[in-house]
Amino acid sequence: MQEISPTTGSDLDYITAITPPDGTLPPRASTPVTDADRVDLDGTWQFRLSRSAVAAERHDLAPGTDGWKDIQVPGHWPLQGFGDPWYTNADYPFPVDPPRVPSDNLTGDYRRAFTWDKPVEGRRWVLRCEGIESIGRIRVNGVLVGVTRGSRLEQDFDVTDHLVPGTNLLEIRVHQWSAHSYLEDQDMWWLPGIFRGVSLLERPDGEIGDLFVRADFDAGTGTGTGTATLRIETTEPARIDSPELGITGRSSGETIDLPGAEPWTAETPRLYTVTVSTAAETRTLRVGFRRVEVRDGNLLVNGRAVQLRGVNHHEFHPERGRAVTPADLEANIRTMKRHNVNAVRTSHYPPSPRLLDLCDEYGLWVVDECDIETHGFLHQDEEHGAWTAPWKSNPSDDASWKPAYLDRMRRMVERDKNHPSIILWSLGNEAGTGENFAAMAAWARHRDDTRPIHYADDVACEYVDVFGEMYTPFARMDEIGRRLDRIDPASTVDTLQDVARRRLPYLLTEFGHAMGNGPGGLLDYRALFEKYDRCQGGFVWEWRDQGLARPLPDGRIGYTYGGDFGEPVHDGTFSIDGLVFPDGNPSPGLLEFKAVFAPIRITVEPGGDTVHIRNLRDFATLDDTEFRWTVAFDGMTAASGTLDVPRLPAGTAVTVPVPATPPGDGERVVTVTAVTRSGSRWADAGHEIAFGQAAGHRPVPAPAPTPRPGAVAVDAVRAASIRLGPASFDTGSGTLTRLGGVTFTSPPRLDLWRAPTSNDLQTGQDGSAAARWRRANLHALDHTVLAVTETTGQIRVLTRVAPLARSFGVHVDALWSLTGDPGEVRLSLTATPYGAWPSTWPRIGLRFAVPATYDHVTWYGYGPGERYPDTYSATRLGRWSAPVTELQTPYVVPQENGARGGLRHLTTTNGHHRLDVVAESELGFTARPWTPEDLTAARHHHELSPGPETVFTLDIALDGIGSAACGPAPLPADRLSPRTTELRARLRVHTAG
Ligand code: GAL
Repeated sequence: MQEISPTTGSDLDYITAITPPDGTLPPRASTPVTDADRVDLDGTWQFRLSRSAVAAERHDLAPGTDGWKDIQVPGHWPLQGFGDPWYTNADYPFPVDPPRVPSDNLTGDYRRAFTWDKPVEGRRWVLRCEGIESIGRIRVNGVLVGVTRGSRLEQDFDVTDHLVPGTNLLEIRVHQWSAHSYLEDQDMWWLPGIFRGVSLLERPDGEIGDLFVRADFDAGTGTGTGTATLRIETTEPARIDSPELGITGRSSGETIDLPGAEPWTAETPRLYTVTVSTAAETRTLRVGFRRVEVRDGNLLVNGRAVQLRGVNHHEFHPERGRAVTPADLEANIRTMKRHNVNAVRTSHYPPSPRLLDLCDEYGLWVVDECDIETHGFLHQDEEHGAWTAPWKSNPSDDASWKPAYLDRMRRMVERDKNHPSIILWSLGNEAGTGENFAAMAAWARHRDDTRPIHYADDVACEYVDVFGEMYTPFARMDEIGRRLDRIDPASTVDTLQDVARRRLPYLLTEFGHAMGNGPGGLLDYRALFEKYDRCQGGFVWEWRDQGLARPLPDGRIGYTYGGDFGEPVHDGTFSIDGLVFPDGNPSPGLLEFKAVFAPIRITVEPGGDTVHIRNLRDFATLDDTEFRWTVAFDGMTAASGTLDVPRLPAGTAVTVPVPATPPGDGERVVTVTAVTRSGSRWADAGHEIAFGQAAGHRPVPAPAPTPRPGAVAVDAVRAASIRLGPASFDTGSGTLTRLGGVTFTSPPRLDLWRAPTSNDLQTGQDGSAAARWRRANLHALDHTVLAVTETTGQIRVLTRVAPLARSFGVHVDALWSLTGDPGEVRLSLTATPYGAWPSTWPRIGLRFAVPATYDHVTWYGYGPGERYPDTYSATRLGRWSAPVTELQTPYVVPQENGARGGLRHLTTTNGHHRLDVVAESELGFTARPWTPEDLTAARHHHELSPGPETVFTLDIALDGIGSAACGPAPLPADRLSPRTTELRARLRVHTAG
């Protein structure tokens, strides 16, 4: 390669080169444990940021920087005070004009001096760069060693001849943009820097070289008497030993039969320790035996069709970005395991090898994805901004890019090939199709015939082994499940390719877009996975909200998204779409995932006398699980115990009795939970895996009294208020202003609004629900009282609630009556829509507010978390209690949240007065320290601050959640179409002392 002029900076062609990296050694398998030496170069380096590559040569620094500063490696410079992050989804943040990139190309010079006192004779020393975004030009003691290309790909350089005894200088010049940025258009923050480790590795003469573990498991007859074989291919002949496997002094290249070895599965991640040695070096491997194949239309592991209950995992930390630590990764894995996740797609690049080690150890199926996305070449309608096919000038189908594509695939496969957890290679994401992908697939198949290939953009499945798709609507998936799909959905005849594709198993590469409140509809997807053998599960998009932390002036932490750094082109909130919040805490979406995809299905039969238990695992028994039961009356536990459950092999079920218990007062609820018998790396003993619940008889509420006609209207001018027992009503508006000692700061009134969720806002497959609500002016309702009539013991208020400027609305007929309890009134309300309603309703309920001193709520109903029409699986019937502040779900982007459903009664108190609501019809509630308008207006969670009131809604019904931000809207049954609805409840006030 050419020496680059150190002074003129004129030879910058390496930045726009579309070739693979320069000066690298062939990639090889990662084998973390070796007795060869290693020098870690992570830590504090020196750093200088320049505006451009040319400026870097002239020491012309970026604005706001002044010379060499300390920086941490691994790390991204924009997260360490140098420049800013930039978020885009599919757009390139520069003109699409490959291979050119802007000349304003931020350039970071990294340097590190180190003392070298290691021997160089009889060995080579290799500089390993695990990840540099975008490219890094490397010099050792002033000599150019090479250029890295492929941000998330490991690259090794032989630096032996450039090392000197004593002080050495390592310099890496990193450019934010390069031609290779065109291949790295993943939906994530652009975060330049040396973000993975840098080290020097000893390679003694006579070392093992590369190493390919072929650890096969033949499940044989399926009776459990499988046979394992081991063959380890090495560059240099080596000796193989494993006391655990009874292997002594065997040779590399030999196939060793191991009849007694247990298979590796994600449910039983059995790893064996094997050493591989030459005279010069010994490496210690963790080997797992399994066989992956596509046979008879299914993806099989060890002969069985597996269900992937997966997530898409980006490497992300709110402070460190993609420079994640092993502890960050392990925390993710533990949270995944605790929430019944059994698979990971490494969207959209090979992860840190540490993640794969953890997947091997903890047990997770992995789809390892290559570092390629060219989404910004998808033709964009320049007027409307919509992404429409076809692709234009896509590198994926341009032969001049082929070496780069092949190099990326090769680096991934070679580095990761020995991980038993990896069951599929994925060629990349959203990069269209083309000859370069076909070549990658062919190369991978030739190199590794033990793993099928996935790539969702090969729609016709010309070179992949599984049919992968994203965000598929339910009806279409049903067709796919029945193997009736056509590549061209408009066609009415089958092509040969249609027939061939139907033979492939089907995976949802991405589904259940977990943006904000959601995803809804996971149960509907589960039903399809269970109905069709072809549908073998998939991966929810995505694991974690990619919100970068920003310290706020008041000491709190805020989370940011696109646009918060002044990016001129960005994709806003689209990076906030995870099952866990940026800080790693589970969102309600993850709890829903856990319940929906639990590998144990517990169905307590109505009446609660028996329970049906199904083992939905693919391999393991439930011997590690204990089943506990409780019987509660009105939420108070009356009896509990442990169930006797016979041995349940994978895929089997049993019905067992729940012990008889004495009768009690109130609603009888039987709950059965499956918990871990003993502790493990990821959960303590007693960790709940699944639950089932059945409510017995719920006492029928007494019917409300029928209004008597002919009552006399009160003259609003004569009396300011009307009294009904403990209740006072305003005569002008007919609203309840006071009940006993409780003053309503906002009286109960019908409400139809909710702060739109991310799914409501986005124009997914069904257009934007929120846009329709706004067009219907549901955020601007007028409440006009039509009549207030009073008869003995009751008050009837007729109101017309209607959006401004519209001719449709709702007639509300509210009847307030006495119940005989001196502190109580009963409300019986009917809401009847009129006119031609053009949209669904976000919610229908009664909204009121009381002073913020009512800051705590206790309820008997479903909880403890939020619940919507299509996200309810994680909640159970019980007694719950929480401060109002904790009833809020801290979605990064404020939106509707925190609804509790199936309410029997609730109580809120200020310590002096207590307000009870007793539900006599299907009811839910929200309680917030701010108004729905505040929630609608705020752009970040931290912008919300508690106001002077606690605002309640008593919800009759809510619209579904769905995942329309990128996927299907809620199914019609979960939508709240305008309809006549009723609310019956008793409101009661107690005063302490
Ligand atoms: C998919 C893409 C993901 C992400 C998602 C939307 O199409 O593969 O990377 O952008 O959409 O959040």
